[in-house]
Amino acid sequence: MTEMIPVPNSQNNSNPAIKVVPALPDAQTVTQVKHYTDRLFSFRCTRPASMRFRSGEFVMIGLMGDPHPETSKVKPLLRAYSIASPNWDEELEFYSIKVQDGPLTSRLQHIEVGQEIILRPKPVGTLVHDALLPGKRLWLFATGTGFAPFASLLREPQTYEDYEEIIITHTCREIGELTYGHDLIKGLEMDELLNEVIGDGFWKKIKYYPTTTREPSQIIGRITDLLRSGQAFTDLGVPVLSPESDRAMICGNMAFNLELKAMLEGYGLVEGANSNPQHYVVEKAFLD
Ligand SMILES: Cc1cc2nc3c(=O)[nH]c(=O)nc-3n(C[C@H](O)[C@H](O)[C@H](O)COP(=O)(O)OP(=O)(O)OC[C@H]3O[C@@H](n4cnc5c(N)ncnc54)[C@H](O)[C@@H]3O)c2cc1C
Ligand SMILES: NC(=O)c1ccc[n+]([C@@H]2O[C@H](COP(=O)([O-])OP(=O)(O)OC[C@H]3O[C@@H](n4cnc5c(N)ncnc54)[C@H](OP(=O)(O)O)[C@@H]3O)[C@@H](O)[C@H]2O)c1
Repeated sequence: MTEMIPVPNSQNNSNPAIKVVPALPDAQTVTQVKHYTDRLFSFRCTRPASMRFRSGEFVMIGLMGDPHPETSKVKPLLRAYSIASPNWDEELEFYSIKVQDGPLTSRLQHIEVGQEIILRPKPVGTLVHDALLPGKRLWLFATGTGFAPFASLLREPQTYEDYEEIIITHTCREIGELTYGHDLIKGLEMDELLNEVIGDGFWKKIKYYPTTTREPSQIIGRITDLLRSGQAFTDLGVPVLSPESDRAMICGNMAFNLELKAMLEGYGLVEGANSNPQHYVVEKAFLD
């Protein structure tokens, strides 16, 4: 596991001995890297001083591609990434897959503190509070790296102002793939700043429901099946979702998104958007 070594950022570099010179267009400097499994890692980088975003949105990030074999020109290789940090954080955090033959992540997985990534500071996305009507309970449904936008929203004060209860479900194949989310949620208990800003014990509003499908753990199975059987509601001690009280955000693979979307519609929830707030919103965790 890579040690987390903070370095000064390029906008706020108090140590003159460390010079960070941006060499890429829209360059940001990596300040921390942490590896969880051979397929998952997270990293933090500097944030452009003028960049504003709503917790839950995504941006395009990447590296310069290989030179074109004939022209030798290099172009940026960019991919969509949910911002995992909340909008008040002075840095940006990302939670990433490592696809061994993936054009971007085959290289991005080797990024180190002090190196640069490209970040286009134009955040967009549907997993935002603005796209939901007021409600009592917020469900955040994730598979795999679909946890990333929820890592942002779980550290966003508005989440706790708007809802009495927040249920976060995370389905992965194996236990190791839950570590980033587990550690983040446990860390909220100790987060002095958030406890002061949002209110002491704000994290007690969270009900965390991690499940695995290919390795035994405390809760085994896909969240869709656990909802269908009723086990998830029993375990969580909450009633079946209803449009009167429940709001939901979905972020996972395409099959998961479609299946859960149909289930939520079955409970009577209606899909919302930035321009038309409703009961639930969906975003892909990756294209397939
Ligand atoms: C709106 C949006 C937000 C996204 N946010 C994130 C994020 O926060 N973190 C992240 O790691 N990825 C995220 N992605 C996916 C990301 O854009 C890239 O696909 C990913 O970084 C892999 O890039 P690549 O060039 O290495 O491989 P690609 O050519 O992009 O993908 C190769 C294959 O790898 C698989 N794959 C790609 N991404 C994932 C993933 N995240 N989990 C599991 N399998 C995957 C798919 O089967 C895909 O066909 C997001 C995608 C979208 C559309
Ligand atoms: N995770 C790994 O260890 C691993 C290793 C090598 C390669 N890969 C490849 O990488 C890609 C992405 O793998 P991933 O594990 O990150 O993501 P994934 O295949 O999207 O699976 C993530 C979780 O979502 C569950 N899921 C899938 N479809 C669902 C649905 N319709 N409803 C509810 N839950 C659903 C999976 O359960 P199920 O297990 O029941 O499908 C799994 O627990 C895949 O192409 C995979 O073959 C993954």
